[in-house]
Amino acid sequence: MHDSIPTVTLRNGVEVPSIGLGTWKMGENRSRASEEIDSLRLGLDLGMTLVDTAEMYGDGGAEKVVGKALEDRRDDVFLVSKVYPWNASFDKTIAACDQSLSRLGTDRLDLYLLHWRGDYPLAETVAAFEELKRQGKIGAWGVSNFDTDDMEELWRVPDGDKCAANQVLYNLARRGIEYDLLPWCQQRGVAVMAYSPIDQGRILKNPDLIHLAKTYQATPAQVALAFLLERDGVIVIPKSANLRRVRENRDTVDLDISDEDWAILDTAFPPPDRKKPLEMI
Ligand SMILES: NC(=O)c1ccc[n+]([C@@H]2O[C@H](COP(=O)([O-])OP(=O)(O)OC[C@H]3O[C@@H](n4cnc5c(N)ncnc54)[C@H](OP(=O)(O)O)[C@@H]3O)[C@@H](O)[C@H]2O)c1
Repeated sequence: MHDSIPTVTLRNGVEVPSIGLGTWKMGENRSRASEEIDSLRLGLDLGMTLVDTAEMYGDGGAEKVVGKALEDRRDDVFLVSKVYPWNASFDKTIAACDQSLSRLGTDRLDLYLLHWRGDYPLAETVAAFEELKRQGKIGAWGVSNFDTDDMEELWRVPDGDKCAANQVLYNLARRGIEYDLLPWCQQRGVAVMAYSPIDQGRILKNPDLIHLAKTYQATPAQVALAFLLERDGVIVIPKSANLRRVRENRDTVDLDISDEDWAILDTAFPPPDRKKPLEMI
């Protein structure tokens, strides 16, 4: 019997699972499409019903794969996509959203993010996001790769404080946001979506992590994900196109790590003691 997946409640009251499904590197190769679709559908079956994609991934290919995986189950899923910064003017944001919707085969996104900061004024992008909300094409909007000073600037533009989420690089090996950005978001109810939660696999070779995982009969990936799931308001979006690893990631929620062992991880992966600029992949 598995524990149920914990949830995070967004500022608009919508409850989402705190572990979802990433899709970067999907949709790049036709020969892999069916395993990608199968792994997304398995993830949904297992309750990881938040899917993160972007117009960037596979040049629209990932959105097409997601569209196929969601064909008969769109209503069960919280769907997130992102607009390129160079498409983030008022008119181009609306057009990019329409194109994402068409690739995804749906009439609405649940969350639409600015992928990273570009040259268009934030006020213009926010105005477009609010217009998309009025048109019913998106349920909420947010940002990605925004550091604390970017968030503060966002809060000063009209409707900027309606931002629902900030998707950032966050994992055991990259804890910089714990110093300021994470508490900033938590205090305002802005969900933090932790991307590359297992550092794209790099973290899994760490001997301390391997050792600790063994003591729980778990895998290093599960401990790395469990570390993030411990944090309030944090949503993790591991990507896997492999059925076994999708199950493994989902089973993370059954892991119960002791305070002593969290302290061991703090020694192996120290939290920040000063401000560090937000890292990006
Ligand atoms: N907003 C942004 O700028 C941004 C940037 C990066 C990522 N993202 C989003 O965040 C998602 C996750 O980040 P990510 O894809 O960069 O990295 P990640 O989820 O940390 O790692 C993905 C890699 O780890 C492997 N993997 C997955 N589960 C595993 C497990 N249990 N054990 C061992 N290996 C495992 C995957 O391979 P297999 O597929 O073969 O299992 C894949 O190679 C992305 O897919 C994307 O949706 C957003």
